Formats: sequence, C-alpha cells, structure tokens
Amino acid sequence: MRIPDYEVHPIFVARWSPRSFSNEVIDDATLFSLFEAARWAPSGNNSQPWRFIYARRDSIHWDSFADLLNEKNRLWASKASALVILVSKTTHVRKGASEATPLRNHSLDAGAAWANLALQAEFLGWKTHAIGGFDREKARELLQVPAGFQVELAIAVGKQGDATSLAEEFLERERPTPRNPVNSFTAEGIFSFADDLAVREVVSR
Ligand SMILES: Cc1cc2nc3c(=O)[nH]c(=O)nc-3n(C[C@H](O)[C@H](O)[C@H](O)COP(=O)(O)O)c2cc1C
Repeated sequence: MRIPDYEVHPIFVARWSPRSFSNEVIDDATLFSLFEAARWAPSGNNSQPWRFIYARRDSIHWDSFADLLNEKNRLWASKASALVILVSKTTHVRKGASEATPLRNHSLDAGAAWANLALQAEFLGWKTHAIGGFDREKARELLQVPAGFQVELAIAVGKQGDATSLAEEFLERERPTPRNPVNSFTAEGIFSFADDLAVREVVSR
C-alpha cells in the first residue's frame, strides 16, 4: 500500500496514525525528544509560533485533556501515553518593530512543527495521531490559552498496541493509508492540475 514513487528516507513512508495505543506511560526523555524535533521546524521570520501543552496519562491533567476530545476520538485516544494540544501564536513583533503585527503563517508553521514531532516519534518507535475532532473552545478555557493564540490540533502520542481491542469501526481502518502519486500534485511552471481545474469550472458555472 505504501510504495514511494521516488527514493525517500523510509521514515516518511513508515509514519502512520494508528488508533490502537497501548496504555503505557511515556518518560520525559522521549516526550521532550519529540518537542526538541518540533523546535527545529522552519517558520516565517523564525517566529516559532508553536506552543505545545501536554498531559501525560499518569498525570492529574489526563482526564480533563481526554474530555476535550470528541467522543469517537476519545474512545481510542484515551489509551495513548500523552495528549498534546498544539496552539499557535497569531502575531509577532518583527525585528526593529515595537508592536506585534499579524503573523500570516502561524498555522503553517505550527503544522511544520507537528510534522517534525510525528517523524521523531516514529524514529524513536512511538506513534502519533493528529486529532482535529476536539472542542477548541473548551481547550482554550481549560488550558487558559490567551487571546492572540489559536488552538490548532490535539495530538495523541503512544506505543502501538493490540489492534484487536479496538472497536470494529476502527479496526477496519487500522492500517497505513495510501497517497496520491507525486505527479498528481506537482506541476512545472503553471497550475496545470486537470482535476482541480475541472472542479473550479463547476464552481464558477
Ligand atoms: C489536522 C488533522 C486532523 C485530524 N483529525 C483526526 C481526527 O479527528 N480523528 C482521527 O481519527 N484522525 C484524525 N486525523 C488523522 C488523519 O485521518 C490521518 O493522518 C490521515 O488519514 C493520513 O493517515 P496517516 O496519518 O496514517 O498517514 C487528523 C489528521 C490531521 C493532520
């Protein structure tokens, strides 16, 4: 299912998002190695707008973090080792300026940091699963996220566990997903993606 079109480091193809987590506790060295990887992501103006707020499963924060997730996501993610909420800063004080101005790339940069984190987890033999299905307003309140920050994503981190304990609806999806071929999303010189242009035609009609 996952054969690259071109040669690439195997970690990119190996990373996938299971739902069968194994309940185990994560140590600081592992967790902070993931944040360290996130740290080195590129960002506009080197503004580094990512903020990671975490709860380990053996901490007092765990239940309230798990409660942020939509019911379906909570079913499987409550067996993860850590839940991380990714928040991005929407403004930045540019060099030489005295006041903060809007940061256009805050979500993009936070996404780059999340990707680094996920790949480092894979490298260390851990798994991650991004979760968009959670209550962002509740997260803002619980985590006391101030104005000027956007709640982006929840991330489950854990060791892959026994898939047979998953609910049936998850079991059938418990495998690495395929990807579109490289030539379907790359073009030289001009936006020449036939499928996308066909959609645009329908939209503008
Ligand atoms: C922004 C974002 C939000 C996601 N939200 C959810 C979610 O709410 N629930 C879920 O089960 N998976 C979620 N996923 C996981 C994606 O479905 C998964 O990454 C995608 O199908 C590709 O599969 P892979 O990560 O196994 O390669 C999310 C992923 C991303 C990047």
